[in-house]
Amino acid sequence: MTFWERHPGAFEGISDIPPIAPNSLFRTVVTAYENQNLRGTVGVLAYMNGEQQHGASAERLFPRLSDGSFENHSKRLKTTIGDCDFCFLVNHLEFLDESLWRWSRDFLSGLFQNVGMNSLGVFYALFFGTYRTTPFGVHRDPESVFHLPVIGTKQMRIWPIDAIDPNSPIVHSMDYRHSLDRSVLLQANPGGFIYWPSRHWHTGEGAGELTVSLALSLFCFDSLEVALATQLVKSLVAEHGDLKQPVRKHHRIPFDPTNLQRTSENLPDHLHQAAEELRQHVSDEALIVGWLRLCSASGFLTPPQQRRHEQIRPQDKVSVVPGDAALYRVLRPGLTAVAVNGHVTMTSCPGVGDMVQLLCSNSTHSVQSLLDALSSSDKSPTMLQDALNVICHLIRSRALNRISDSAD
Ligand SMILES: [Fe+2]
Repeated sequence: MTFWERHPGAFEGISDIPPIAPNSLFRTVVTAYENQNLRGTVGVLAYMNGEQQHGASAERLFPRLSDGSFENHSKRLKTTIGDCDFCFLVNHLEFLDESLWRWSRDFLSGLFQNVGMNSLGVFYALFFGTYRTTPFGVHRDPESVFHLPVIGTKQMRIWPIDAIDPNSPIVHSMDYRHSLDRSVLLQANPGGFIYWPSRHWHTGEGAGELTVSLALSLFCFDSLEVALATQLVKSLVAEHGDLKQPVRKHHRIPFDPTNLQRTSENLPDHLHQAAEELRQHVSDEALIVGWLRLCSASGFLTPPQQRRHEQIRPQDKVSVVPGDAALYRVLRPGLTAVAVNGHVTMTSCPGVGDMVQLLCSNSTHSVQSLLDALSSSDKSPTMLQDALNVICHLIRSRALNRISDSAD
């Protein structure tokens, strides 16, 4: 913990194995490529000899299930394309890999306990390929990073914050041979990790051998306002920024170029409306819900996606996944938010907190016993259905498993 946001460092033998088995990671990467349009949640980039590839050019490079492994994928590229430097980058893999997210939650718990949560948001960036230096060259990020090798020996060259002038030509350059002063070359193998604090200049280095490594990235903005605004912008763009949607009429803001004074004196209604909507996003209730979501996701912005729709009946049984705590906050009379593993649902069911608390007391429950725990005197069919919906939410969010019934 003495390194956190102070010094870079390399650590070996933290565990016997990397956070995820290479073959399992490979399958997740292929899934990421096939699902990269999931509302922009998972980002996939391919570089060849330092140049980003697009369209068909990128498509021919990316791993396919038929490759079977990172090593075979690398061999295919060498056979079909020749001796080129390849670098692939996949963001937010935790969205597709529940076990990776659970491992990370445990990995970060000691850090959060000792130094508190970073501000705000955690995500994974996966790097793999035979590249000799990061294709976007020497750069810095607002994230504190734990770089976890999965295959091969990972090397990172790191400079202190003040070692490089932001206007220097080596920024984003892949040629920094004459700027090694004050840099340190760190390396780690699977089971260990390299750490560097936010804003430290860095680039990956390699000798042309295949490396696969996960960058567990923790945003460390100086200002909580910037952190909050960044998350808000991302969620708004994800929700409304789909360029395939038709242009809406209210984008036409009244503007008279022949009378700018009069135009400037009339603040468009649309701006008023937009400001009001923004205020709703940072209302006390919205902040409580956002914090609930972040707490239940161990800081991750894109926790594992929910399962598809599940149905549950009072006569069913459920088992509790150890470590997956359901959280709740009463927002106002008649409205409670329930969160687990980064997913929030709203319910009007009064007393749902008693049901959530009961969940923690045992490893298995009958659904009927959970419904019986509702403290409310109002156990109308509508309320019971509302409570069943909360249980379904917990199952879809992977915190509960429905125990199959032989009578089904
Ligand atoms: Fe970086």
